Amino acid sequence: MYEQISHALLNDILDEFHPDLGREDLRHFYTRLGANFYAIHSLFGHLYGHRDDFKQQIVHLTERLARAYIDRPEELKQRDMAREKDHNWFLSQEWVGMALYSNGFADDLPGLTERLTYLTELGVNLVHVMPILKCPQKASDGGYAVSDFRDIDPRAGTLDDLAVLADSMRKRDILLTLDVVVNHTSNEHPWAQRACAGDKAYQDFYYVFPNRDVPDMFEETMPEIFPETAPGNFTWDEAMQRWVMTVFNNYQWDLNYTNPAVFIEMVDIILFWANQGADIVRLDAVAFLWKQIGTTCQNNREAHLILQLMKDCCQVVAPGVLFIAEAIVAPLEIIKYFGEDAVIAKECEIAYNATFMALLWDAVATKNAKLLTQGLKSLPGKLDRATWLNYVRCHDDIGLGFDDADIRTCGYEPYAHRRFLVDWFTGNYEGSPGRGRPFGVNAKTGDARISGALASLVGLEVALEHGDTKGIDIAIEQILTLHAMIMSFGGIPLIWYGDEVGTLNDNTFLNDEAKAGDTRWVHRPHIDWLRNDRRRQRGTVEQRIFDGLKRLIAVRKTTAAFADFNNRQLIDVANPHLFVFLRTHPQVPSDAVLIVANFNDAPQYLDINDLGNRGLFRHGQTYDLVTGEWPSIFNGRLVIPPFRFYWLTDQRPGLAL
Ligand code: GLC
Repeated sequence: MYEQISHALLNDILDEFHPDLGREDLRHFYTRLGANFYAIHSLFGHLYGHRDDFKQQIVHLTERLARAYIDRPEELKQRDMAREKDHNWFLSQEWVGMALYSNGFADDLPGLTERLTYLTELGVNLVHVMPILKCPQKASDGGYAVSDFRDIDPRAGTLDDLAVLADSMRKRDILLTLDVVVNHTSNEHPWAQRACAGDKAYQDFYYVFPNRDVPDMFEETMPEIFPETAPGNFTWDEAMQRWVMTVFNNYQWDLNYTNPAVFIEMVDIILFWANQGADIVRLDAVAFLWKQIGTTCQNNREAHLILQLMKDCCQVVAPGVLFIAEAIVAPLEIIKYFGEDAVIAKECEIAYNATFMALLWDAVATKNAKLLTQGLKSLPGKLDRATWLNYVRCHDDIGLGFDDADIRTCGYEPYAHRRFLVDWFTGNYEGSPGRGRPFGVNAKTGDARISGALASLVGLEVALEHGDTKGIDIAIEQILTLHAMIMSFGGIPLIWYGDEVGTLNDNTFLNDEAKAGDTRWVHRPHIDWLRNDRRRQRGTVEQRIFDGLKRLIAVRKTTAAFADFNNRQLIDVANPHLFVFLRTHPQVPSDAVLIVANFNDAPQYLDINDLGNRGLFRHGQTYDLVTGEWPSIFNGRLVIPPFRFYWLTDQRPGLAL
C-alpha cells in the first residue's frame, strides 16, 4: 500500500543507505520492500515509534534486510520467485513431514544426509531437523537453549555439513525445516555473558531487575511452564547481582522485544538460516514473545505484531520461506498465529495443531470420539493460504489443552477428566496398557502433562513384554489409525522419528543427570538401525507399522481431496465411538473421501443416514482407498472393526466415468 509518510521515510532511508549497497542488483528486493514498507513502518512504529532513535533503528533494520538479500544464494532467489508464482504450493497433499534429532535418527548431520534414502523409501519429503545450533553441553533443553545463533553445535556437525544436507535435500525435493529459538537464549550466549559482565546495552536484551519488586508483580499472573524443574519465572544471577526473567528453564533467559535491537538481531538470524537453505523456519515458543505485567505473558497482542513484522521482513528478502508457529496454547489462541483479520496468513503460514493432537489422545484413552468431535467443532475455520501441522507425537509432552467448556459438554468434569487421562497414559488406571510418564506436574494447581513414545503410550511395550499378540495387533492398529487421522485431516502431517517402526520408550535418560529430571527425553530415541532393518522382514512389528504408514503416505499423495483448502466437514454421527469427517476435492466437490475411525475396542456401526444429504454412497457401494477393499453396507449400516479406520470413496479411483 502507498502512504505518504512511510514512503517519504523510505526515500530517506534509501538515500542514506551505505554506498556499497548501491552497487548491487537490488531490483527484486526494492519491489518487495516498496510493497511491504507501509506495513513494516506501521508495525515497527507501533512497537518502537516512541523512541528518539526510531528513525535510526528503522534505517538499521532496512539495511540488514538489504544485506541479507545480497547474501541470499542465487538458487534460493530463483526458488523464491518460482514459489511466488505457485503461492499455494505448501497446501498440496503431496507434503509429508518427519521431525527428528540428527544425532538421534543418525549420528550427526552427515549421517542424516546418508539416511535420506530411508526417508524417501517411506515417502517423507519434509524434514524438521530439530535444533542444531550451538548450545551448552548439559543445560541445553534439547537444543532450545542456544549459545550461538549462527553456528552449528559440534555434536551435530558444521555449517558445511548443513550445506551438503540442504543441497542433497533440494535435489530430492525434500523440504528443510530449521528452528530459530526466538524467545530466549542460553545463559551462555555472548549477549547474556556481556550482560553478566555489567554491559548495560546487553542487559537491555533481557528482562533484568535489581530486586524482586517488578518480578513479584509479573509473578502474580504468570503461570509456571516447568514447575518441577524450574519453578517461578525469574532467576537470581550471582555474577550480575540481578534477577533475570527465565520463563522456561533457569538457564534460558527471555529476550526483551521492547528493545528494537533484539528484534533486528532476530530477524537477521532468521534470514541467516533462510539463506543456509531452510525452506521453513520453525519459530519456537512464539506465544511468549511479549511480556506485560498483569497478563499471563502469553498470546499478548504485541507478540502477534512482532510475528507480523518478522513475516513482512522475511517476505522482502526470502518470500519463498515459510514460518511455523510453535504456539501450544488454547484452541482459540492457536489459530490467531496465522494472523487475524487477514485472508492470507500474515504471521505464520503453518501452525502446530496441538488441539487436534491432544483430542486424538483423548479418543484413545476414552475409546470414544465425543470430545474429539466436540473440540474440533469449536475450532474456528482458518485462513486461506495457511495450514496445520498435524502430529500425533513430537519431542514435547502431550499437554491437555482442550477447552473446559467442551469437556463439560461431553459430560465430564474437567479436572477429573484430565486426571483420568494422565493416569491412563501413565498406566495408573485399571486396565490401561500405557507406559507414559508424567511431565510438568504442578503440585500447586494439580496440572500435569504426559511424556512417552507413541508405541509405549498405546500399549505396544506392555504387549511385547507379555507376548500378547492381540495386544500387539491393537497397538499397531492404533498407531496406524492415529497416523491415518493426521494424514487425512488437512494440513501437513508430521511423523515423529521412530514412530514409523513403533520405537518404544528409551529410559536411558535416567542415567544422565542433565536429563533425568525431564521425562520428555523418554521419547527422544537413538534409532537402533538393526531394529529398523526388521521393517524388511514380513510380519515383524516394524514391517507392519512401516509398510502401513508407507501405504497411507502413498495414498495421501495421490488423493487431491486431502489438499488443504478448507475442504473438510466434520460429521456428527449418532455413534459416539466414531470420528467421521468428509474431505472434498478442491475443484471437483463430488469427488470426496469419507474418513471414519473407530476408537473403540468393539466393532461399531455407522448409520448411513447420519451422513445426511451429501450424496455419498448412492449406489450402496464403498471403496476403501487404503486396503483396496469394498466394505459392505448392510441394512443401511457400515461396520468398522475395533480401532480401525476407512478412507472411503464411492468407487475405485480411475474407474470413475
Ligand atoms: C518449545 C520447545 C520445547 C522447549 C521450549 C523452550 O516449546 O518445543 O521443547 O522446551 O520451547 O524452548
